[in-house]
Amino acid sequence: MARVVITGRIPSEAVEMLRSEHDVWAWEQTTPISRAELLEQVAGADALVTLLTEKVDAELLDAAGVQLQVVANVAVGYNNIDVPACRERNVIATNTPGVLTDATADIAMALILMSTRRLAAGERVIREQQPWQWGMFFMLGTSIQGRRLGIVGMGQIGAALARRAKAFGMTIAYSNRNEIAPELVQELGCVRLDLAELLATSDVVSLHCPYSPDTHHLIGATELAAMQPDSFLINTARGPVVDEAALAAALRHGVIAGAGLDVFENEPTVHPDLLDLDNVVLIPHLGSATIETRTAMAILAVRNALAVLCGDAAPTPITV
Ligand code: DGY
Repeated sequence: MARVVITGRIPSEAVEMLRSEHDVWAWEQTTPISRAELLEQVAGADALVTLLTEKVDAELLDAAGVQLQVVANVAVGYNNIDVPACRERNVIATNTPGVLTDATADIAMALILMSTRRLAAGERVIREQQPWQWGMFFMLGTSIQGRRLGIVGMGQIGAALARRAKAFGMTIAYSNRNEIAPELVQELGCVRLDLAELLATSDVVSLHCPYSPDTHHLIGATELAAMQPDSFLINTARGPVVDEAALAAALRHGVIAGAGLDVFENEPTVHPDLLDLDNVVLIPHLGSATIETRTAMAILAVRNALAVLCGDAAPTPITV
């Protein structure tokens, strides 16, 4: 029996898969585990099942010990994991690609509609019991049909969003480090642009790149200024891809028309300058938040841990 530490609450089906074979310790509270408690509990673990709220760095890996074999993150994003530090210690790091593609693309599409049609601001009018009446010019938004969606990072989630946006009548441009498959280009009818051209010509820009030192503040004051004044920015990737202070200033001064954010630079804190702006939609990191998706993520993470513990290849290792 191996010792497995689950650093946060995950669906019980996934916990049971581990308990039936191994000795499991799990953090059961709804708030994230403290760093001190985490460092104490990981001691002697052969496998860690981690959430994106936990930083898996050299200190944590060393606190676990040399017997640690696998860190199975319950997320597709793995910026909370120091992958080179894992590699140096022969620890396999895994993530959960694929199973949250649709849920996250749905949220990105929802944010596009919410931002361009001012849905959150409209809801506030009603909830705050402000006086209102149907009027020809009341709370007009922007149509997305025939408008260009610029996707930054055309991976699985970017492509899934592109399919949705195409069904809504948008045209698709993308910027990506690598070429994408010709069949996908044909299916989406999309054009590849460099980031500068994509920003300058898109009506909606949606971010789907991983967060790394290379993409830290990829969108800052200069990039926002390069966008069209009637355009929108959507972020369902990771908060620090956007310079939040610069975005708040751009939204306040009409540099761009609006934004929809699911992720924030210092979660769960949101930059105070964003909070009183009517032209930004703010939701609390809900990209993968469906019962089905979270269950599938946890089960995939557990399958990764179980595979490594019994000497098999992990189904979805982090390969960068
Ligand atoms: C992920 O998996 O990276 C998502 O952000 C979780 O919601």
